[in-house]
Amino acid sequence: MSFLSATLSRVKPSPTIAMTAKAAELRAAGRDVIGLSAGEPDFDTPQNIKDAAVAAIAAGKTKYTAPDGIPELKQAICAKFTRDNGLDYAPAQVSVGTGGKQTLYNALMATLNPGDEVIIPAPYWVSYPDMVLLAGGTPVPVETSLENRFKLTAEQLEAAITPKTKWFIFNSPSNPTGAGYSWDELKALTDVLMRHPHVWVMSDDMYEHLAYDGFQFCTPAQVEPGLYERTLTCNGVSKAYAMTGWRIGYAAGPVELIAAMRKIQSQSTSNPCSISQWAAVEALNGTQEFLAPNNEMFKRRRDLVVDMLNQIDGLTCPTPEGAFYVYPSIAGLIGKTTPAGTVIDSDEAFATVLLEEADVAVVFGAAFGLSPNFRVSYATSDAALTEACTRIQRFCASLK
Ligand SMILES: Cc1ncc(COP(=O)(O)O)c(C=O)c1O
Repeated sequence: MSFLSATLSRVKPSPTIAMTAKAAELRAAGRDVIGLSAGEPDFDTPQNIKDAAVAAIAAGKTKYTAPDGIPELKQAICAKFTRDNGLDYAPAQVSVGTGGKQTLYNALMATLNPGDEVIIPAPYWVSYPDMVLLAGGTPVPVETSLENRFKLTAEQLEAAITPKTKWFIFNSPSNPTGAGYSWDELKALTDVLMRHPHVWVMSDDMYEHLAYDGFQFCTPAQVEPGLYERTLTCNGVSKAYAMTGWRIGYAAGPVELIAAMRKIQSQSTSNPCSISQWAAVEALNGTQEFLAPNNEMFKRRRDLVVDMLNQIDGLTCPTPEGAFYVYPSIAGLIGKTTPAGTVIDSDEAFATVLLEEADVAVVFGAAFGLSPNFRVSYATSDAALTEACTRIQRFCASLK
């Protein structure tokens, strides 16, 4: 009998982290690898946020806190939901965790029983299905299409719902496609959910502030107030405020669910880092002025990457609404052979040879549940993006 648990055997390690590690390994060996696989902004945490953390340390705010967040942060989160989303939550409806990841995980751990199904539009953020499996539930991926710009349709959602469905996980703008749902597109989904009162909604709004070309972000409980009582609205400071290492995420929803999540957190990690919580108070209450110039920069990079990738024969790259990812299809390259003789028979093979033969690290689509594609993270400099896309162009042109 294995020493390791049966649950663990159902879960795979994060492929995005694996790809980033492989690129780092090649770099350490002296290769000039350009990494387009990391899911974090390339700029530093804004100074006012860092200052707030330093001040918290100086003031001795370095002890255990309430398990799911200090009152000051919960207040700042409630104010954020009112300001940005028109959603009213009381502090008792808010849970703060160690990254957005922990709040999502707590919610699944708190609610899933064996046999419970969780609908996850594909391609999806790699952690959703594995977190569902760890919590004992059954992930139900539903494949979207490039033709529909990677967005789930009302018909697809309707067809996926069964009496066993517990949650529908919704992520807009999306990792890995950048696809953002308009109000009308989301309303079509919430109309379906209104017909199925047993289904709860987990909305992962992590990329809310990263949206371009005037895209108006919206979230399910805002679009359909009738879902408020069965929606967990999740967000965090990691991406918009360049705070991935600080590990603060949060969620708001019905008091009973929040209390259950608190119980799990209090018996696992206790509270998120006290200093990071004070930094997050400043992130949410302080100036938001840097968001607009950052978005200008991301939009420029998105357009650069989409343009250069679409010049490649056999590759199709839609222009997404937000986040910092694009998810091109390589359907037109499948079956071709590299100069070294490797046949590109899958997106995993494509990403592997692209790294080995062209020194560019991307993540293959199968990791996100929709093939044949790959994910490019454009959260890196214009110069690195231009060079990386030139290498991808050259590599694809060399395929026979
Ligand atoms: C869609 C999505 N949700 C949640 C997270 C988790 O964020 P955090 O670093 O705050 O745990 C990520 C991070 O990559 C993400 O892409």
